[in-house]
Amino acid sequence: KTGMFTFDPGFLATASCESKITFIDGDEGKLYYRGYPIEQLAENSDYLEVCYLLMNGELPTAEQKKTFDGLILRHDMLHDQIFSIFKGFRRDAHPMAVMVGVVGALSAFYHDSLDINNPRHREIASHRLIAKIPTIAAQAYRYNKGLPFSYPKAGLSYAENFLHMMFSTPVEEYKVNPVLARAMDRIFTLHADHEQNASTSTVRLAGSSGANPFACIAAGIACLWGPSHGGANEAVLKMLDEIGDVENVPAFMEGVKNKTHKLMGFGHRVYKNMDPRADIMRSTCYEVLNELGLHNDPQFKLAMALEKIALEDPYFVERKLYPNVDFYSGIVLSAIGIPVSMFTPIFALARTVGWISHWAEMISDPGMKIGRPRQLYTGAPRRDYVPVTERK
Ligand code: SDX
Repeated sequence: KTGMFTFDPGFLATASCESKITFIDGDEGKLYYRGYPIEQLAENSDYLEVCYLLMNGELPTAEQKKTFDGLILRHDMLHDQIFSIFKGFRRDAHPMAVMVGVVGALSAFYHDSLDINNPRHREIASHRLIAKIPTIAAQAYRYNKGLPFSYPKAGLSYAENFLHMMFSTPVEEYKVNPVLARAMDRIFTLHADHEQNASTSTVRLAGSSGANPFACIAAGIACLWGPSHGGANEAVLKMLDEIGDVENVPAFMEGVKNKTHKLMGFGHRVYKNMDPRADIMRSTCYEVLNELGLHNDPQFKLAMALEKIALEDPYFVERKLYPNVDFYSGIVLSAIGIPVSMFTPIFALARTVGWISHWAEMISDPGMKIGRPRQLYTGAPRRDYVPVTERK
């Protein structure tokens, strides 16, 4: 029993650490950030308020929110020399490769936030990462497209600024549609944290060695890149393109059952019920498509047909496979005009606050020790060296 929560011994045996940040009940499909249900935060909060909550443990007062928003929106510029790092990549480099490289390189620029034993350094590094990650992600997209680098603009919200930096050009200012900006902000909130997922565990393990926060977040970005984790929303869109039409669904499902491919965007290591984020993402999808007059979007209709079939199919029901956060997020991002190559970078952008909150929670624990998972050795027994002349 820890606090108000009681865990069964089997669960405790698998727990890698204690944390006060995010609670998931996979059987009930519940997700709380610092005790607040994700449904209520998605409806009533905004991403920067969620960042404050995840980092500080409480919702900010009006004054605290004004100060925090101002701080983040003031530190979203990059040291001008960092733009040269982008230029070291091939134009066709995947934006995730660029983000891993550039975020890791921040440790060569911001020396006043590298001392992990200094609370002020830790706070500056956390704010810097949240402030700069949208700028870095947007520049990775622009560099890939051969567009000139862009800069954040005063007076825009965090999500509005990201869309502005992605799509404005020197000759045409991107007009921010508030419905799309709200959807973007909600996608950031839904992806902000998720307990000890693979990339967060990567950040914690890297941080436990005393590595600087920029290097730890770069490690998290690298782990998130995998198709079983953050790369799933990109894989969902590719899957929908491959299926093409509802009439091809039965053949596709046969392939799933024969294990030739997976139904991307379905299943989860923890949720054995609906991922609460998937429900919110589906309704966000409706809002965005309706706003854009795309309610007959073929991909969305195919996704809904696929979901309906899967939720009634014994193969999925028996295995407790439900849509996860990635099943609809790609359709929303596509409708906003975001290319598939930027889906996982956006997941990394949003998850940066979760990673840095877990890093800070771990680093500030005086009893913290370096992580050192052990193994069951199943290799050869002890044996003596054989000279090469005697080997067969
Ligand atoms: C994220 O951990 C997190 O919190 C991650 C995340 C976060 O916010 O950080 O939530 C983000 O990563 C969401 C997941 C995104 N990934 C995908 O959508 C990729 C598709 N999903 C699968 O790769 C899979 O579901 C995993 C990796 C997510 C979970 O895999 P597991 O742990 O093997 O799932 P399981 O043990 O529940 O599998 C049970 C059965 C197995 O079949 P059998 O051996 O029993 O016959 O279900 C099968 C699996 O093969 N299965 C699937 C499937 N997922 C599991 N079959 C078809 N399609 C799928 N998607």
